[in-house]
Parts: sequence; C-alpha cells; structure tokens
Amino acid sequence: MQIKIAPSILSADFSAVGEAVRKMEAAGADLIHCDVMDGTFVEPITFGGQMIKNIRPLTELPLDCHLMIAHPQTQIKFFAEAGADIITVHYKACAAISESYLEDTLALIKSYNVKCGAVVNPDVPVEKIFPVFGMCDMVLLMSVFPGYGGQKFIPSTLEKLKKAREYAAAVGKPELDIEVDGGITEENAAAIKAAGANVLVAGSAVFRSPDPAATIAALKR
Ligand code: DX5
Ligand code: ZN
Repeated sequence: MQIKIAPSILSADFSAVGEAVRKMEAAGADLIHCDVMDGTFVEPITFGGQMIKNIRPLTELPLDCHLMIAHPQTQIKFFAEAGADIITVHYKACAAISESYLEDTLALIKSYNVKCGAVVNPDVPVEKIFPVFGMCDMVLLMSVFPGYGGQKFIPSTLEKLKKAREYAAAVGKPELDIEVDGGITEENAAAIKAAGANVLVAGSAVFRSPDPAATIAALKR
C-alpha cells in the first residue's frame, strides 16, 4: 500500500501556519493534519474552521481535520464549508452523547461530500469502531493520549493496528486508510507500517527536523 505522511500543524509556529503548510508540501507531505482541540474533550484549545479556510488556498494537499472536540456535529458544517477533505471524530466524544452519535456524525460528514473517519484513543479497543468501518474512508488509531505533540508512542497500538488491518480486509476494504497519530519517529515507523498503518501523522518528527524533506522520505521508506 502507498504510505502517506501527514505532518501535523500542531507543531508549527501558530503565527506562521501558512508558511509551514507550504514548507511541508514542498518537503513531500501527502496530507496536512490539522489538530482541532476545544479545551473540553482535550485540555488545550487550538483552532477552528477559520484556520482551514485560510490555509485552503495555500496548498493542493488534502486537509485532514482531526476533531478532538466534545460535540463534533456542531462543527461539521464549518469544516466542510471551509474546505476540509477528511474529517475524523473521536469514538469517545460520540459515545458520551448517544449510541448513534458516531454513525450519525459520519453520515453528516459524508452528506457534505467530505471523507470521514472514526478515531480511537489508546485506551479504547479498536473493536469499538468495527461497526462503522463500512462507512469510514479512514480510521485513526491514537498512539498517544490526544492533547499534546511530542509524546512517546504507546507500543500496544501495534497490536490494534494488526486487528484493524485484518478486520478491514475481512469486510472487503483491504485498502482502507489506517492512520496512526502520536510519537511517530524514523525509528518506529517501520514497525508501525508493518503492523498495517499506511497514513502516518508526524508532528515533532518533521517540524523539529533540520531537514523535513529527508525526514518525510525516511518515514515513507
Ligand atoms: C495529539 C495530536 C497529534 C500530534 C502528533 O493530540 O493529535 O496529531 O500533533 O504530534 P507528535 O508527532 O509530535 O506526537
Ligand atoms: Zn492529530
């Protein structure tokens, strides 16, 4: 499968995000990962749909919007209209509202012709999102607890990745995009890909690199 690298602008200088997006595209990024935090589902607050709207004209790359927010349905319209290409929402946030909220939110995202995905935290079994694999264009397995960049990769994610890739194949979606987010480095990328991931988010690894193009190439290899 094609390996895609999604640099996270969470690690960019927020006074110069546009510049960072251009730089990542030039360095060979495949997607731009946009970490949206609301101060409720996770402690920090980052940005909302306006950021997506402003960076949209600056890049050809798909904008991968990872919503770490408590009430995702309230924001889908804004992100879709701002130009998001993929919107992912957390199982935990949705399950806290109602049993059908995740499915309903994915359907809402699709109604805007935007790709959708479900996310599980490190302490949520991947089986929880098996029922929505059929609807998802991508699934996202967190390999750190969301909220902050620069954390250490949680190794139990590898086992979950294998299960996710096997289940995707079993339901006739062997090419499903399976994304991993948190603590990815040049050292652990090979094991993550071998376990079944094909979309790798990288925050600090690329933004702290003296040569982001070389780091992106190394993560892909
Ligand atoms: C964590 C975010 C991640 C984060 C990854 O809440 O969802 O996307 O930016 O950063 P690194 O690669 O530094 O772990
Ligand atoms: Zn993220």
